Amino acid sequence: MCGIIGYVGTQRALPVIMEGLKRMEYRGYDSAGVSIMDPVGFFTLKRAGKLAVLEGALEGHSHAGTIGIGHIRWATHGAPTDINAHPHYSCRGDLHLVHNGIIENYRELRDELTALGHTFVSETDTEVLAHLIEQELQPGVPLETATERGLKKVVGAYGLALISAREPEKIIAARLGSPLVLGVVPDGSLIVASDVAAIIAHTRDVVYLQDREMAVLTPKGYAIRTLDAQEVSRPLERVEWDIGSAEKGGHAHFMLKEILEQPDTLNATLLGRIISGEGLVKMGGLETIADRVRNIDRLIIVACGSARHAGMVGEYLIEEYADIPVEVELASEFRYRRFPAGGKTAVLAISQSGETADTLAALHEAKRRGLLTLGLVNVAGSSIARETDAGMYNHVGPEIAVASTKAFTSQLALLVLLAVYLGRQRRLSHALSEELLHGLSQLPLQMGKVMQQAEGIIALAQKYRHAERWLYLGRKYQYPVALEGALKLKEISYCHAEGFAAGEMKHGPIALVDAATPTVVLAPRDSVYEKTISNIEEVRARGGAIIAIANDEETVQRSLVDHAIIVPRTLEALSPLLTVVPLQLFAYGFAVARGLDVDKPRNLAKSVTVE
Ligand code: G6P
Repeated sequence: MCGIIGYVGTQRALPVIMEGLKRMEYRGYDSAGVSIMDPVGFFTLKRAGKLAVLEGALEGHSHAGTIGIGHIRWATHGAPTDINAHPHYSCRGDLHLVHNGIIENYRELRDELTALGHTFVSETDTEVLAHLIEQELQPGVPLETATERGLKKVVGAYGLALISAREPEKIIAARLGSPLVLGVVPDGSLIVASDVAAIIAHTRDVVYLQDREMAVLTPKGYAIRTLDAQEVSRPLERVEWDIGSAEKGGHAHFMLKEILEQPDTLNATLLGRIISGEGLVKMGGLETIADRVRNIDRLIIVACGSARHAGMVGEYLIEEYADIPVEVELASEFRYRRFPAGGKTAVLAISQSGETADTLAALHEAKRRGLLTLGLVNVAGSSIARETDAGMYNHVGPEIAVASTKAFTSQLALLVLLAVYLGRQRRLSHALSEELLHGLSQLPLQMGKVMQQAEGIIALAQKYRHAERWLYLGRKYQYPVALEGALKLKEISYCHAEGFAAGEMKHGPIALVDAATPTVVLAPRDSVYEKTISNIEEVRARGGAIIAIANDEETVQRSLVDHAIIVPRTLEALSPLLTVVPLQLFAYGFAVARGLDVDKPRNLAKSVTVE
């Protein structure tokens, strides 16, 4: 989820590109770079760290070139270093390229290209693109044809922009699975970027590229074609957002943007990991330690906040499908506890940021004990990512709102994949894993259906804006979802919300039910459905309002709930990925109705790096 930009026109390219990168800073990033081209050659500068570091390094440079590309990086393959920062170059140095996305088959491509004599300098997947296109750029072959031929060999996702001294007035941009938008500036200049925020200071007239399309930009104009050289003509669209809301994808808050982009981020998490037809999962990050993973006989998951709730779903998943005993521990408790553990125990740290102090300390303790340590992390190169023996990345891009949403669902998806991976190393059948993986691949589409109800869910939350106390109930896979729903509500609305295992109701929490305390019940059609319906009746008998998250109207009629939100049906083990979404939207709508700053709730921090 990097930011890319390219400019060609009559103005100096460098300031336009730097300004565009600044507009994309909100995405979070760990390095940045630019390449400007003129008749003499390239001027390139790349720096790890904040954009300010690159800006500092650029001081005193006033390059006059009118064509160039720039990039802010969110590291996935290769640590955030100067060398791994984009642009990346071909061997001859006459082709520079920036890229957003993941090249899944980059290892194979790198081996092939190395055998053909190419030399690689970075650890990134992106660099193969520069060499791949260079390889096709034989004398007489136009730049767009070489790009087209190169990209046809790529498996994965890309939004890219490249410039080449061979055709010094051209930017080639192409996309597959990563956004790209082309802006037409009134003076005839053209800007291509991964994010409309990088463009709208200059123009509001844009064209969005579609998958497998390529745009050729020159000072004289642009042309769009498919990767099969079919011309595409598409009218300009007018962007009405202001700069502030453009960063938020046109939404009022980052939290809403991040909730709504979950079908896409889920796809990004799944990309390249399901080997369909074989019932197998590819976990690139675990390959080096596959044998040790095969021997794990106990798993301890350590995490905090939402990541812990994801871990609790993981406990059910891994016990059910991989038959490995799992415990989920609050990292802040685990770090100070005595825990007997044998040599085949592994510790899995789940953390969006990869920097949470308690989770890191729990990890250190596990390492001190000589246990195998695994990480499930969103921020590449973060402390937890570096210090674990192996792990998996979420690939959902920076999460900016303090309340975690897209990282949470991505954690759930990775835990399903991990359960299948571990299961297939053990006794999980081909048929069952195929069923799970098929269900998983349907989820982005099903999630999209929940998103279509977003406005209604937000409006429903508004109706309840005066409620000060909330209960959330769920059983089995829905129990951690109840905890997560309550956490979402309390962290951004400052109302008391508590999640319980529905079966525990009679042991205390039911005393809290009264007419002023609404209860949210998670009631999908799972193996404990009938029990959950009984719990709804118990709450209703005590006069509390009930909002149910259900799969069908029949549930609504049977249980006489006050309101219901219907989500598509999926396998029980996958249902948290769908049932949690209405709870995120509900918490969001509720806090907005109470006039609160949902992105930056009081007293909370996105990344808790102190104990
Ligand atoms: C903070 C955030 C939560 C997050 C928790 C763990 O409390 O506000 O949203 O779940 O930290 O963060 P991590 O980065 O380790 O997932």
